[in-house]
Amino acid sequence: MENKKFNITLRVWKQKSEDSKGRFETYNVEGIIPEMSFLEMLDVLNEKLIKEGKEPVYVESDCREGICGCCGFVINGDVHGPDEHSTVCQLHMRRFKEGDVVTIEPFRAKAFPLIRDLVIDRGALDKIITAGGYISVNVGSAPDANTIPVDKNTAEKAMDYATCIGCGACVAACPNSAAMLFTGAKISHLASLPQGHPERTKRVLNMIKIMDSLGFGNCSNEYECEAVCPKEIKISAIAKMNREFLKANFLSEEDPDLPPVFHQSTVDVPEDE
Ligand code: SF4
Ligand code: FES
Repeated sequence: MENKKFNITLRVWKQKSEDSKGRFETYNVEGIIPEMSFLEMLDVLNEKLIKEGKEPVYVESDCREGICGCCGFVINGDVHGPDEHSTVCQLHMRRFKEGDVVTIEPFRAKAFPLIRDLVIDRGALDKIITAGGYISVNVGSAPDANTIPVDKNTAEKAMDYATCIGCGACVAACPNSAAMLFTGAKISHLASLPQGHPERTKRVLNMIKIMDSLGFGNCSNEYECEAVCPKEIKISAIAKMNREFLKANFLSEEDPDLPPVFHQSTVDVPEDE
């Protein structure tokens, strides 16, 4: 069966830099095939604009397979678009129809400065990782990977947390621009595994300290982050992070080598473990 091509009107946020004034620009996009991804539709628009000597729409993408986390923006008010738990690169044009007016704009959060149009700087998430989202061990060769046995349930739970792709959708969807789902996933991943235990206390204190310093807000139990996360990270990651944080704060009062108590967590979300 031949799929009918269709046309839409696109309202795109155009802004040259964080400091300049932005505005919506309107484009007509014609001949859209329903099987196209949303990014492929933008490729078609950009090729046309470039051929006409006009400025293209700046948009970021890499893997186009829902893995790298860099393609996020807001479509008709929905972070990552109308599909549940999807990235923009996994969204297809069959979700739209002839004559639709589609508005696209960047993720808006103080900690994510705008680079251009739909492209934002998610470097703040990298800074949180740099503060402790790693383990300092000599990993050795392949056989050494199995010298510390990890039972299947623990490995699977850790893997669920590890699937976070750092897309920042949780931050963009949260009314407080909190990065607690992201940080909770990273902390919970490593705290679940024996390999993550030696730096467990220092990790949670340092990562939350950096998170707080970068302009992210705090969690107020809106659950918006869980609703949009393309990897379906559960809000229980935040509860686990808070429990880790509480324990670490008790320990830091007794151990002068650990960072001092600095943060009063107010979050109270249920744990599912
Ligand atoms: S927790 Fe989910 S929404 Fe947040 S950065 Fe990770 S994958 Fe993206
Ligand atoms: S381009 Fe990599 S997740 Fe979308």
